[in-house]
Amino acid sequence: MRGVNTNKKTIGVLTSGGDASGMNATLRAVIRTGIYYENKIYGIQRGYQGLIDGKIQELTLSSVSNIIKNGGTFLQTARCKEFYSTDGRKKAYENLKNHGIESLIVIGGDGSFKGLNELLNEYPIQGIGVPGTIDNDLYGTDYTIGFDTAINNALEAIDKIRDTATAHSRLFIIEVMGRDSGYIALFTGIGAGAEEILIPETFSDLKGLCEKLDKGHKRGKKSSIIIVAEGDEAGNAFDVKSKIENLVDWNIKVSILGHLQRGGSPTAFDRLLASRLGYESILSIMNNENKKMIGMVNNNVKLTPLEETWTRKKQIDNAYIKMAEILSI
Ligand code: F6P
Repeated sequence: MRGVNTNKKTIGVLTSGGDASGMNATLRAVIRTGIYYENKIYGIQRGYQGLIDGKIQELTLSSVSNIIKNGGTFLQTARCKEFYSTDGRKKAYENLKNHGIESLIVIGGDGSFKGLNELLNEYPIQGIGVPGTIDNDLYGTDYTIGFDTAINNALEAIDKIRDTATAHSRLFIIEVMGRDSGYIALFTGIGAGAEEILIPETFSDLKGLCEKLDKGHKRGKKSSIIIVAEGDEAGNAFDVKSKIENLVDWNIKVSILGHLQRGGSPTAFDRLLASRLGYESILSIMNNENKKMIGMVNNNVKLTPLEETWTRKKQIDNAYIKMAEILSI
């Protein structure tokens, strides 16, 4: 645990971008730790949109009672285009100033951090980012809040699809989320024992994939599953289907898991991660850290400059990719 500077501050907190399960647990930790150390905490509704519209109110300990187990975010969230303009950020700053808010905690992904960084470059505001996105694509933290719940949600669905696939001897192409990142696809693919996993970080060899699937069919496999990350260069699940349907001896079905991956009660892992990072974000603010994201690397709390979280690429460990290939023969 780090030492705490006893500087009392007025701190705003918001959730931004795509929601991630565990955002509520993060808010609870931010608000409870903030109040414990006698800071004043303001909640901002609907992310940067609420900041621009002045939807800001003081929070109390009871504002966050019994929310640790809830998916979504009680403050709500938004993808706010207006905040990308200087005019939008000016309005946001005026509202912060009018409430006496000197520090801002933003829970979100890379788009939200880019916006925060702009605001902090332009105005005398202190800011810390907390990684909340199911994509797990931020440099500076091994895991983002919401990723573990998302892969567990996806796995639960894929296991069910495996049952019906096996009953009918079918090949299912299942699309999972992850706009520019294959983490969700890779981890759910390994967990579900998928025959193939297509991710944007590696070249998707569809010819080799067809040969492997047919070999499996001849060997007597009763079902096959291909997991496709939505951002894969081979296209979405329907594109992959149309590219391979005349090349394989399988009856093919497509399933797009979509937003069910984002909702639901956070896993134990996400509740712990959210609590730790929410708590540490307040300590960072009180220790006068600025323009940084708080993350966990090798089980240690680590601050990374906001800009590095999107300019540096978080690498997928090749050992996972190799292992997935071997385990799925
Ligand atoms: O960034 C998280 C994420 O769930 C991505 O995986 C996905 O591409 C995107 O959000 C979907 O966003 P929306 O719900 O706004 O369509």
